[in-house]
Amino acid sequence: MQNTLKKNDELEVTIERLGINGEGIATYEGRVIFVPYALVGERVKIHIINDKNSFLIAKLLEVIIPSEDRCEAVCPYFYKCGGCDIQHLKYEKQLLLKKDIVKDTIYKYAKLDVNVNDTIASDNVFRYRNKFAFPVSSVGGEIKIGMYRKNSHNIIEIDDCLLQSEKTKTILEIFKSYMIENKISAYDEKTKKGIVKHIVVRENKDEFILTVVVTNEKFNNFNPLIEKLKTKFDKFGIVKNVNKLGNNVIFGNTDTYIYGLKELNMTELGIKYSVNNRSFLQVNDDIKTKIYNKILELTNGSKKIIDAYSGAGLLSSIMAKNGSDVIGVEIIEEATKNAENLKKINKLNNLTNLNGDCARIIPELIKGEKEDFIVVIDPPRKGIDKSVIDALNLAKPKVIVYLSCNPATLARDLGYLSENYDVDFVQPYDMFPQTANVETLVKLSLKKV
Ligand SMILES: C[S@@+](CC[C@H](N)C(=O)[O-])C[C@H]1O[C@@H](n2cnc3c(N)ncnc32)[C@H](O)[C@@H]1O
Repeated sequence: MQNTLKKNDELEVTIERLGINGEGIATYEGRVIFVPYALVGERVKIHIINDKNSFLIAKLLEVIIPSEDRCEAVCPYFYKCGGCDIQHLKYEKQLLLKKDIVKDTIYKYAKLDVNVNDTIASDNVFRYRNKFAFPVSSVGGEIKIGMYRKNSHNIIEIDDCLLQSEKTKTILEIFKSYMIENKISAYDEKTKKGIVKHIVVRENKDEFILTVVVTNEKFNNFNPLIEKLKTKFDKFGIVKNVNKLGNNVIFGNTDTYIYGLKELNMTELGIKYSVNNRSFLQVNDDIKTKIYNKILELTNGSKKIIDAYSGAGLLSSIMAKNGSDVIGVEIIEEATKNAENLKKINKLNNLTNLNGDCARIIPELIKGEKEDFIVVIDPPRKGIDKSVIDALNLAKPKVIVYLSCNPATLARDLGYLSENYDVDFVQPYDMFPQTANVETLVKLSLKKV
């Protein structure tokens, strides 16, 4: 049949499956069409907005026959904002979708047909994040603070984000009135002028640190902000970060402490730790605890653990407190300093923190290792460096525990390791409800020969 579909066509289709980002997928005249916000089985009216040759992207115009899995999105910004993907899908179905994403991705990239457990739910399906970054921008001279529209840099102004705590609403309100009253300009992406670019909030139950990202190091007019925040909050800190570059990265290199708290102090599974405005911390506290508990169970009793990509050392410390000798390897110097601090305050003499690139250090560390050891790996989204995979395939630790925030790179890496390892356990966790993102914990065991 001749392909006749083109941009701006309007048509009716039935959705056949959901994609890795939670979008509906239909086929029409043999062509694949991605339809965000449409669900499996739904008959929908769509408008083709983009023809990418190998597939088309369409806007959902009308749901003619809705799915039973559809629910009302709670957030008024949902269909515009790029923060959430699947608020229109009932929560129990979100959990099923994530299980399918993990299973299908591992099959697609690694050709491994593994058993995947049911996704473990988050206790809070809204207001679960402990950190948020809001872009600040000037649009036609007006200050806008909010979230980016999906796949764009246009800001949708928001007064409350339902993934973030109630406090954030007040912080946003105060911050905007502080800017207006004190005539502080917002950064304009087009003219590359203006002062405030982003605000980043990191919080725990009672406290928060607000980082104000500005384009000019001379900007210091924070007193009116401090006074306003004091009228609503007892314990908070302010940090100035300078980012002069017009790129997509939020933070620049320089942080200046301005006021109040420098760190938030917390406890996790018996470890006292503190995080500053920049330290890595899993964003969903209850899922974080569930994952760390499971890692403890999977590594319990092992004499020696190598914790690759160890961040500020929280997981390394928890495993060391459990009795194993742990070596953490992390590339960011500041994070390794934090890890050393954890070691000191928690009196963990069996923990060693190494600063450097895992790609270089891990192969050296495990080459020719005779003792039994386990490797725990929690890499960034890009997955495990190939030299680390090669070293693992050579050194052959009995067990590898892999925590991943990206099913695609997880699948690629499992493919590389599957020559020597069996995949024993695959557990998705809903670290990020209302979005299509999923955190996955995997246990691999050395194949018996
Ligand atoms: C997902 S975090 C791990 C956090 C840690 N496991 C925890 O639970 O707190 C990934 C860490 O890998 C670090 N990293 C990224 N690339 C690295 C590399 N090539 N070598 C060592 N560490 C790296 C990042 O700086 C980040 O701290």
